[in-house]
Amino acid sequence: MIFISSIIVVSAALCQISSAPANSPLLSGFADLHVHQMAEFAFRRAWFAKGANGGYSHKGKIEDALHQCNGGFNEQHAGTIFGPLIDKEIGPDAGLHLEKRWGVPDNDCDRGKPNWYQKLLGLCKVDKNLSGFPIYTTYTHQQVWEGYLKTAHDSGLTLMVMSAVNYKPLCKIMATSGIDNDPTLACDGMVSIKRQFDEAKIFCTERKWCQVVYSPEDARNVIAAGRMAVLLSIELSHIFEDSHDAIGAQVDYWYDQGMRVVQIAHEEDNIFAGVNPTNPIFKFFQAVEAITHINPSKWPEVGEDGLNKKGLTEKGVALVNKLMEKGIIIDVAHLSFRSTEDIFQIGVEKSYYPFIQSHGSFGHNDYSEERYLTDWMSLYLKKSGGMLGSMTRNVIKNYEYSFQLGINIAFGSDLNGFAKQLAPNATFQDKELREKGFAHMGLYPGLKKEIEYVSLDKGGSILHRSTENVVQLWERCLNNKRKMLSTEGFNPSNKFSASPRGVFNASQV
Ligand SMILES: *[C@@H]1O[C@H](CO)[C@@H](O)[C@H](O)[C@H]1NC(C)=O
Ligand SMILES: *[C@@H]1O[C@H](CO)[C@@H](O)[C@H](O)[C@H]1NC(C)=O
Ligand SMILES: *[C@@H]1O[C@H](CO)[C@@H](O)[C@H](O)[C@H]1NC(C)=O
Ligand SMILES: [Zn+2]
Repeated sequence: MIFISSIIVVSAALCQISSAPANSPLLSGFADLHVHQMAEFAFRRAWFAKGANGGYSHKGKIEDALHQCNGGFNEQHAGTIFGPLIDKEIGPDAGLHLEKRWGVPDNDCDRGKPNWYQKLLGLCKVDKNLSGFPIYTTYTHQQVWEGYLKTAHDSGLTLMVMSAVNYKPLCKIMATSGIDNDPTLACDGMVSIKRQFDEAKIFCTERKWCQVVYSPEDARNVIAAGRMAVLLSIELSHIFEDSHDAIGAQVDYWYDQGMRVVQIAHEEDNIFAGVNPTNPIFKFFQAVEAITHINPSKWPEVGEDGLNKKGLTEKGVALVNKLMEKGIIIDVAHLSFRSTEDIFQIGVEKSYYPFIQSHGSFGHNDYSEERYLTDWMSLYLKKSGGMLGSMTRNVIKNYEYSFQLGINIAFGSDLNGFAKQLAPNATFQDKELREKGFAHMGLYPGLKKEIEYVSLDKGGSILHRSTENVVQLWERCLNNKRKMLSTEGFNPSNKFSASPRGVFNASQV
């Protein structure tokens, strides 16, 4: 399997010089730029799985993959061990969730007879409605089970960025806290990332409806054939830090493993870049420190302007240049404003190399936090053909504002990540979305319907072009003859309109 995929990688590398193909029909469907499909293998397999063998799975029968969790100490998954503490900082789904017995219940069979006997005779009633599970605040149970994913694909999801994730401090806590975990998935190095890449390849090899892709041409062919294209990405706090190999050689290695999208930092400052310091994960770690006395994480140093002082380091500049040489899609999610400003400056030198912000939101009335996409960033996206992957919780507002700016937008759900999704709302068209909010991947049909219904952009045409736009963005990354795109139609509200050093300014259309 790995052998086969490396052949594909080699052939992809040989035809790297691409441009938007003439006369090829526009791809249909929409894209999600940030999905942690394989999160069960992150954090030593302890966060929402249970150790090496058990746990919530992205695949398999619904009753196994989404089996019931009693949310008690004995469950020993995720944050149950931290009790109500992380419940407060992260959400109601983490920590002990005793009163919420989520998942497919086993004990529906318990009517005086052993389960195996009833299962054998087919007497167990499996509540496939999963009575309120998962919900839109689910952080510790599977949301990207294959049945849900297939539903999303059937409703038009034609491109997905599969983000392999790990966060060393959280992983280390899992390893030392006594929670059942998988010691083969070491916290140092990129063992867990490799596993997630391999599992994604296996998943699509076993199924005819998706395929991991290594070039825009690949993506066009796969999507035209009715399958979902999957791009492999990495979101890791200390990417490339644990190896003694030169950074360039590591990029080459991971490129050969299939990495086509990457975040150069995540959650905390690293050797390459400063990050957005407002992430709730820092609060969580402060809370963890109070009980465990483990101090796993460092707050970024914030300057007088309230922003992280750190931008790209020298190593960061070298890394970004190397990634651009290979046409890899760089994702600026989680970066500090200063890092983003530095990266955009390199992008300008490279004739407006495009970037994505894979899972974010416009600040709307509040641009003070560095996690928001500001107007100066949007202008760069406009000039370069970059894209925002919108978090679902603000998707309607984001969608309307992207329309006002004329920039391209896709979804960036961050499912299976620590993200609160779109909340239930009595005004929604779709019954399940109305009741559950965006609780899992299988609710894309309802979310799509809602956008088509409320959008100023008639029928949600930007949404329906999002896959085509991602593939064109990727083609621009690989096209050395790219030029700045027109800024026509860019109509910002000019909030928080200039970058920290004033290099980018939303007025410079
Ligand atoms: C599941 O939901 C459907 C529709 O809401 C309902 O008709 C059905 O009775 C439910 N099944 C169970 C087992 O609760
Ligand atoms: C539901 O949606 C309406 C219309 O978009 C909005 O005004 C309202 O605040 C939403 N309610 C909740 C609880 O989110
Ligand atoms: C942004 O541009 C506007 C118009 O040219 C100018 O008035 C403003 O001072 C600039 N802001 C910064 C921070 O450079
Ligand atoms: Zn649970």
